[in-house]
Amino acid sequence: MTASPGEPVSDIADPGLSEAGRARIEWAQRGMPVLRLLARRFGQARPFTGCTLAACLHVTAETAGLVTALRAGGARVFLAASNPLSTQDDVAAALAASGAATVFARAGVDPAGYRALDSQPDLVVDDGGDLVNTLHAQRPELLSGVRGGCESTATGVIRLRRMAEEGALAFPMVATDATVTKQMFDNTRGTGQSVIDGVLRATNTLLDGRVVVVAGYGACGRGIADAARGLGARVIVTEVDPVRALDAVLAGFDVLPMAVAAPAGEVLITATGSRDVIGAELLPVLRDGAILANAGHFDVEIDTRALAAEAVKVTREVRPHTDEYLLADGRRLLLLAEGRVVNLVAAEGSPPQVMDVSFAGQALVLGWLAAGQPGLDPGVHAVPPGIEEEIARLTLESLGAAIDELTAAQREYLNSWRAGR
Ligand code: ADE
Repeated sequence: MTASPGEPVSDIADPGLSEAGRARIEWAQRGMPVLRLLARRFGQARPFTGCTLAACLHVTAETAGLVTALRAGGARVFLAASNPLSTQDDVAAALAASGAATVFARAGVDPAGYRALDSQPDLVVDDGGDLVNTLHAQRPELLSGVRGGCESTATGVIRLRRMAEEGALAFPMVATDATVTKQMFDNTRGTGQSVIDGVLRATNTLLDGRVVVVAGYGACGRGIADAARGLGARVIVTEVDPVRALDAVLAGFDVLPMAVAAPAGEVLITATGSRDVIGAELLPVLRDGAILANAGHFDVEIDTRALAAEAVKVTREVRPHTDEYLLADGRRLLLLAEGRVVNLVAAEGSPPQVMDVSFAGQALVLGWLAAGQPGLDPGVHAVPPGIEEEIARLTLESLGAAIDELTAAQREYLNSWRAGR
């Protein structure tokens, strides 16, 4: 993509990493058949011709698949990192070098979502709500030019709903997080596997027979609890929602209040979307050697300030992504990924086969928005049912699975209340 005069240019760590990034992206693309198909379709139909798209996402090889598909469809893409520690510098370099996007992402440097906004986007793609938030709070002059966008996390959708309730949201946002396909692939399987992957890469510890406390039993917590149990851990779930807690009980997990579970935990993983889930009050009761990890979008679920205040000594990186906090009574607590989203910092996030589904959903929703949806009011909208069904059909096909069709008699039977039994 050639920059027009005055247009922002890429800000990345090291352009020399582009070849390594290209190879990494190519590997991810092998596992993303649906997005490859959409890129081919977009290349023919060019649904994003004339569209400028600002995206604030984890800059990973899988995200490159989405960017490539949107670019193939004619979009000018401006990509900013949504998290300082999840950026893959080689991928950022490859994307910038190929011209697929203008990229603002350096590992370890605070995200600069606002820089993607300098492109004056008409569509936005957000992961956690920071881009939309910044747009409303700091760049209100751009709001009238934005036709809409999509949000891919539960945390971001919660924020958007609060904005919409206050009448503050200036354009339609589609909650791609809330689709059944995204929940079953990304939130449950992808997060479950990659969070445990992050814990294991960071600590190289055995999980068999160990007590793992999972805080939160939403789609992500369920996946983490299942993955930990699959590796032989004894899992305790904590919850504040009685229905989710009941679901965890039926799945065979012990469900206990955090104050009771925490002293037993050898590994404690938060996945609640809330704050101070492992707060100052728990620090005196945690076991020596307890491993603390967060899977939630923001680094507020473990009270890292309280941990730092209680520690008499902090040893950074006793292993990559593992910091050791020595307390006055001699106990050592191990904090992974500085309390940030462990699966994207200490591992590589959801694998390509999972992100294929999530990003295919976003690509289709963006195509739908780009086509113009004049009746869509500012607010939070569900993914249109036709799109969710298309994602499922394309993914089934890519997996070599096939389904049946109702016969005419079955359709009639299901559509009529007169048919009796
Ligand atoms: N969110 C979860 N996993 C991800 C990945 N691999 N790339 C981008 N965003 C993600």
